[in-house]
Amino acid sequence: MAKWLMFVVCIAASAALGYGYLGAESCQGCHPDAYAAWRTSAHSRAKETLSAAQQKDARCLSCHSPAEAEQQVVNVSCESCHGGGQYYSARYVMKDPELARLVGLVDPSEKGCRTCHDASSPSLKPFDFVTKLKAIDHWTVERNKRSGAPAER
Ligand code: HEC
Ligand code: HEC
Ligand code: HEC
Ligand code: HEC
Repeated sequence: MAKWLMFVVCIAASAALGYGYLGAESCQGCHPDAYAAWRTSAHSRAKETLSAAQQKDARCLSCHSPAEAEQQVVNVSCESCHGGGQYYSARYVMKDPELARLVGLVDPSEKGCRTCHDASSPSLKPFDFVTKLKAIDHWTVERNKRSGAPAER
């Protein structure tokens, strides 16, 4: 208890700057199914959608590759939604939901989606959270595996 408390106090000082990103490949080893699902999603290719000139345009990158300038992680990656993994991705932290959230794990929310899926994005239809959430499902397989049930996808 005291040990992890120190750990939390120490890193709280750097929290204001945002937690460091490790990149999607750092999650892959422990979350292979989530990674595979993300890989097939538009998010993993959001930068490649842009032309060469647009890939240098900070206005476009702010949604298509938001952590590139500061964290050198391209596309809309795991940590764009879950927060920088610098401190939470150690196994003993990941297994402790409370601690993981104290050190940077974010619960993705509809509001978070809407920071990018807003009126300015080139979509014909307004963003429907429930439908779009289903379209990026990479958690059902994770949860089934944990509960021992057969994976259904
Ligand atoms: C060393 C292995 C390991 C690494 C690396 C890792 N995780 Fe985890 N993660 C786990 C374990 C173990 C759990 C606990 C749940 C379980 O047993 O499946 C977990 C749980 C989670 C959860 C659910 C937490 C909760 O309490 O709801 C999310 C979200 C998550 N990981 C995202 C990530 C992301 C994003 C990365 C990369 C930045 C990452 N993980 C890297 C092992 C890891
Ligand atoms: C950092 C910005 C960002 C965040 C946050 C974000 N997205 Fe996206 N999303 C994008 C971009 C950019 C694309 C388009 C990628 C492409 O086609 O190049 C996209 C595409 C998608 C697509 C495929 C296209 C479509 O509309 O059917 C789905 C589904 C989606 N996002 C769902 C979500 C959901 C659900 C959330 C929240 C849990 C979310 N996104 C959060 C930027 C974001
Ligand atoms: C506010 C966030 C945001 C910004 C800024 C942004 N985009 Fe996007 N972009 C999105 C989202 C979200 C999608 C996915 C929309 C959908 O399909 O629902 C998308 C999709 C696209 C697509 C794919 C469209 C398709 O039909 O498949 C292209 C191309 C694109 N954006 C280009 C750009 C360019 C070029 C810029 C800079 C001038 C830019 N975007 C700036 C959020 C953004
Ligand atoms: C566009 C945002 C977004 C991206 C990108 C994203 N996730 Fe998620 N992730 C979510 C959302 C939203 C949920 C939870 C859905 C829910 O609670 O119903 C989730 C759930 C999870 C879970 C399961 C948590 C649990 O309760 O069991 C894991 C593990 C996970 N994500 C890992 C990853 C990894 C690894 C990557 C990259 C390879 C990634 N995610 C990319 C939004 C995202």
